[in-house]
Amino acid sequence: MTRYLITSALPYINGIKHLGNLVGSMLPADVYARYLRQRGEEVLYICATDEHGTPAELAAAAAGLPVAEYCRQQHELQAKIYEGFELSFDHFGRSSSPENRELTQHFGRTLTAADLIEERVIKQVYSPADGRFLPDRYVVGTCPYCGYDAARGDQCENCTRLLDPVQLIDPRSAVSGSRDLEVRDSKHLYFRQSRLAPRIREWIESRAGWPTLTTSIALKWLNEGLEDRGITRDLEWGVPVEREGYEGKVYYVWFDAPIEYIGATKEWADQAPGRDWRSWWEDSHYTQFMAKDNVPFHSIMFPAMIMGTGESWKLADFIKGFNWLTYYGGKFSTSRGYGIFMDAALEILPPDYWRYFLIANAPESDDSSFSWELFATQVNKDLADTLGNFVNRVLTFSRKRFGDTVPEGNPAGEPERKLAEELTKILADYEAALEGKHFRRAAQHLKAAWSAGNSYLELKAPWMEIKENPEAAALTLRTGMNLIHLFGLISEPLIPATARTMQSLWDLEESDPGYGARWAEPERIAQLDWIPAGRGFRVPEVLFRKLTDDDVATWRERFGAPENA
Ligand code: MF3
Ligand code: ZN
Repeated sequence: MTRYLITSALPYINGIKHLGNLVGSMLPADVYARYLRQRGEEVLYICATDEHGTPAELAAAAAGLPVAEYCRQQHELQAKIYEGFELSFDHFGRSSSPENRELTQHFGRTLTAADLIEERVIKQVYSPADGRFLPDRYVVGTCPYCGYDAARGDQCENCTRLLDPVQLIDPRSAVSGSRDLEVRDSKHLYFRQSRLAPRIREWIESRAGWPTLTTSIALKWLNEGLEDRGITRDLEWGVPVEREGYEGKVYYVWFDAPIEYIGATKEWADQAPGRDWRSWWEDSHYTQFMAKDNVPFHSIMFPAMIMGTGESWKLADFIKGFNWLTYYGGKFSTSRGYGIFMDAALEILPPDYWRYFLIANAPESDDSSFSWELFATQVNKDLADTLGNFVNRVLTFSRKRFGDTVPEGNPAGEPERKLAEELTKILADYEAALEGKHFRRAAQHLKAAWSAGNSYLELKAPWMEIKENPEAAALTLRTGMNLIHLFGLISEPLIPATARTMQSLWDLEESDPGYGARWAEPERIAQLDWIPAGRGFRVPEVLFRKLTDDDVATWRERFGAPENA
């Protein structure tokens, strides 16, 4: 039996993530994990906070906290928000864990033994006032090309030219503003990944069926020629480099972060007896989810690290990359606080509204744009009208006419056979979309299943049937209830909370087909025989509320939106 290992790109520790981060990694990974679990597969879905590096150090300093404490608090905060969105991680780890430290040092040692790590002495800016070396981007000054006075040491934002910090005129520390800067020699370790380029290329080129977004980015990097990468930094916060003369240096955050996929798996195993973490990294089907800026690290650098060890760590079997979700066509920005952040989203509406919209608009083949207008329209149409209204109409009408139990009525006839046939096809398409990790498409097929329920109800019109032929109306309503239960099964990956409600409306007995039913083959689940006549049922609260023009106006105001959009 295949076991499925799933990871989503590790969110940086500093700051609450926005909806763009969510839809580009964690949410689709969660949908996929939930789908596979529903199908009875063994799944391990791993995520963690990416905690090392300068941004974490600076954010901690700004918050007036020791960096370890800052990270602990931020990790808890993020974990709670992800729970709020019902992201079903099997483990949500921390890249600062002891497990990851050990594994990162193991990778360092093994790659050194394989002669894939070399030492280089480089010139680096040192700030006596800050008592530290400054990473390129923390040196600011005047651009020698365009005269822009706040150019960063790695790149001028104004003229986009790449820079070296020593080129800046009037350089100063972005940390303290100090102009007292020196250039000092510093030793660093470099990962000689260029030597692995042919093997990486061969691997990428043999990946039939990978999204072009992934392979085209990887091949572009390979075609431009792989450069060896510095994998150490002069920082305190990180995984210490165990090597003579490397006191006060740590591994670069991008070295230890992907190793945390493995580290978090070990953290998971260390939490309970009997969990074998190593075998997940030897024998499983492994899918990674991420936004496109992360693709180079996952398609080249991390695989090169793994290949370089010569050890049996699993390479990804599938890398799913995403384009950007924009906010009215503009970039979500963490630093400027522009767009919708996950905590604010949950304050406004329950997770299913967001989950459905984001998956239905996942930026797969292209960027996609969030707007409150589109959000309200789709929520109202798909969730409130097509799904929510269906559930309510069937149940309230049945209760009114036949009381609190599922009515029996006629045996299934031609319309019911047709409905099952149509659903079988839709479900097969839906499954294929989920298997193939085509998320927008999956949302469309799910919506098509809900619509098929609506069309059936319109066609049979039980509110008419009841006048002439109550037995016919009862059949329609019993079928409608079975549809609701079916929707409860198949909607779970996208809208888990609502799906649970739809599954829990019935007083089923153990011998009933619907009792503890799981997602089965399309032909099977399309047979609407889950809930027998005579069982009690409840009518839930309205599943989705309609979003109004007032809501949209309020949110536009609160979150800021371009005037004529
Ligand atoms: N924190 C990185 C980002 O948000 C992603 C790291 S993914 C990892 O861009 F696996 F490499 F950790
Ligand atoms: Zn410039």
